[in-house]
Amino acid sequence: MFKKVKGFRDIFGKDTFYWQLIEDKFRNYFSKFGYEEIKIPILERTDLFVRGIGETTDIVEKEMFTFQDRDGTYLSLRPEGTASVVRSFIENKLYEPPSIRKYYYYGPMFRRERPQKGRFRQFYQIGIEAFGSVSPLLDAEVIYILYTFLNSFDISEFLKLEINSIGCAECRSKYREKLVNYFEKYKSDLCNDCINRLGRNPLRILDCKVESCKIIVKNAPLILDFLCNDCAKHFNKLKDYLNVFEVEFAVNPKIVRGLDYYVKTAFEMVTDKLGASSAVGAGGRYDGLIKALGGPDIPGIGFAIGVDRLVELVKIKRDMEYRLVDCYIITFDEYVKEAVSLLNILRTEGYNTTIGYDLGSIKSEMKKANRLNAKTVLIIGEDEVKNDVITLRDMDSGEQSHVTYDELLNKLEKIIN
Ligand code: HAM
Repeated sequence: MFKKVKGFRDIFGKDTFYWQLIEDKFRNYFSKFGYEEIKIPILERTDLFVRGIGETTDIVEKEMFTFQDRDGTYLSLRPEGTASVVRSFIENKLYEPPSIRKYYYYGPMFRRERPQKGRFRQFYQIGIEAFGSVSPLLDAEVIYILYTFLNSFDISEFLKLEINSIGCAECRSKYREKLVNYFEKYKSDLCNDCINRLGRNPLRILDCKVESCKIIVKNAPLILDFLCNDCAKHFNKLKDYLNVFEVEFAVNPKIVRGLDYYVKTAFEMVTDKLGASSAVGAGGRYDGLIKALGGPDIPGIGFAIGVDRLVELVKIKRDMEYRLVDCYIITFDEYVKEAVSLLNILRTEGYNTTIGYDLGSIKSEMKKANRLNAKTVLIIGEDEVKNDVITLRDMDSGEQSHVTYDELLNKLEKIIN
């Protein structure tokens, strides 16, 4: 007996209905805003993530699944999509001719985090990335897409949108200095990870989940007090535009994000329904990333939704019917021709239809139909063929009657839809 790897999981049965609800929607949804699909590899050179996400981030320091290929190259399973989309944008010169370019992607990501509620080592993201504009109007629309897409699953009561500006390199260097001074005073009370972060990446302390650190963070200086004129103006405009889009938001000056490429706008859709895993979707602006990865100086912004987490929220709200079979046809060897012709008609009409392949007795086939939770059973036997009718049984009500071929689709429509 083999067991799955820790933090990985199988998704099957009724759960897949929830996944499909989301999977069937996002392409169409994002297309409306002018986004096109991009498919990116699951495996990339490790350097891409080290340079893209940042050497001192948790993801790069301890969460990547990395191995050495036979030729000695270090490869990693992608922990997120942005770095890969940017790599592809540069490598394929998608920036020519210059224009705004908007992409969406969907697929598994891998992070070797401690598994817990809402946190897996293989999880799925739906993400978007938009390149080519520094306008806060684009930021507002990107946030609007996240906000309205998530809320379209009727879960707005579980979600809160939080935004922040984390400034640019200029504001951040001033802020960083103040932050280090502040945390130095409490160094002995910080957790070991944060003591380490103090020298390497002090902003990450703001995101620490350890209680004693959280207490210290409460009174730490806030980035919003250190924004340069340009960043402050961008943030104010963003708030104005979000109001225009009628997006409800709260400013949370403690949002720092776990990836180093962000500048200015950062945002998260958070919930308190998933324990410590609170963000269902998150993103921000990353104006220097394309240049840092060897491309032209083109700005970018995007977000990613954690589909595993979104599924959990949708489950709280609605109970989806787990039904695979609308019509189960029971017949006998002599009438297979009539049965297959009916099978084709029903499938063409859009009904999920199956046949009792074993051509067993009505009693044993009924049992099988029941186990499959079929909505209706259609019997084609000697009497039915002789009289040019079908026996139709509504499995929920138990009602059974002979119907003509003309009446059948009408009756099914009433029972099934
Ligand atoms: P992120 O905040 O690291 O951002 O991840 C985005 C979302 O992925 C999270 O809000 C969460 O819902 C989900 N997620 C992350 N880790 C896990 C996990 N271990 N288990 C389950 N779900 C998880 C990014 O990845 C950026 N690339 C987003 C972005 C796109 N920024 C700009 N463009």
